[in-house]
Amino acid sequence: MKSRVTRREFFRAGIFTVLGTAGAATLAQLGLKKPARAAVLAHEGEHAGAMPSTVGEVDHVRNGFDPTDILTDFDYGTVSTLPNGQTLREYSLVATDKTIEVAPGIDFPAWVYNGRIPGPTLRCVEGDRIRVHFFNASSHPHTIHFHGIHPFEMDGVPGAGPGVIPTGESFTYEFDAEPFGLHLYHCHVFPLARHIAKGLYGTFIVDPQGGWPPVDHEYVMVMNGIDVDFDDENDFYAVNTIPFHYQLHPIPIKVGETVRIFLVNLLEFDPINSFHLHANFFHYYPTGTSLEPSEYTDTIMQAQAQRGILEFAYKYPGLFMFHAHKTEFAELGWTGNFEVTVAEGAGDGDAE
Ligand code: CU
Ligand code: CU
Repeated sequence: MKSRVTRREFFRAGIFTVLGTAGAATLAQLGLKKPARAAVLAHEGEHAGAMPSTVGEVDHVRNGFDPTDILTDFDYGTVSTLPNGQTLREYSLVATDKTIEVAPGIDFPAWVYNGRIPGPTLRCVEGDRIRVHFFNASSHPHTIHFHGIHPFEMDGVPGAGPGVIPTGESFTYEFDAEPFGLHLYHCHVFPLARHIAKGLYGTFIVDPQGGWPPVDHEYVMVMNGIDVDFDDENDFYAVNTIPFHYQLHPIPIKVGETVRIFLVNLLEFDPINSFHLHANFFHYYPTGTSLEPSEYTDTIMQAQAQRGILEFAYKYPGLFMFHAHKTEFAELGWTGNFEVTVAEGAGDGDAE
């Protein structure tokens, strides 16, 4: 008998059905060394040809965040004006250890910024002064490393400025926001793969002065994975952490409404992630640093820390999938739906 069941077999055999709505049973409580083990116990749970999904739902209230809210939850900080006229935005980030229910009945001992994965979406305007008050309440040392242009001592890596921030200590990262675009932040303490895979990352949006062209909807999507058993392989894949969330809760838009997606790849362990939109094409702005799209396509790929802005509108109503065009990732959770309906009084631009 095989000693190790692959992640695909794990999923295929219906782990979700086994653990389903049983509640907070952990793998340890079930006496399972590997999530894959549960799969073997429940092979009859598989329905041939059915769309993969979870049975039941994670407890979003206990988790303290809901992926549906994360789509549109922009943190503009506390805004004031410096004596030189520059806009100052102050943010507060706290790192903690936290248990997150990542799939129904499966708990993950995460490290998080502000209680959620991904951390808060920090948003500002090019040229603003950014002041991020960081407090480390976790049991491990952490930092915040921002992508963007900033002085060495604000780089958030070991040996730069304050270096790693020990448990119980704090530091304020401060710099001018540049360049405009779609960026990210993450902990940069080693082993880096562990500090990222545990959940310490988020989106950092620097709007161009004057803003991007107006759209009806803006959504933040952070592509990530969860390595439940710490074997440096992902057991689940997702957008905004919870597998299949937007399949269970499709994102509602109207025919003709313009959509902008801020898409960031924070997936650890796997080298490439991808995004495919069904029955449509989008304009793609890599890193969001140009107002001119580089491509008109229906599929893009991103290595870790690559990111880009997608813009589109739907021509037809229907339930349209978006997912990684890596079948393994899609079947292990990285898939969702847009629910496109016809606006009342169709054509009069019924914006949100
Ligand atoms: Cu860390
Ligand atoms: Cu980075």
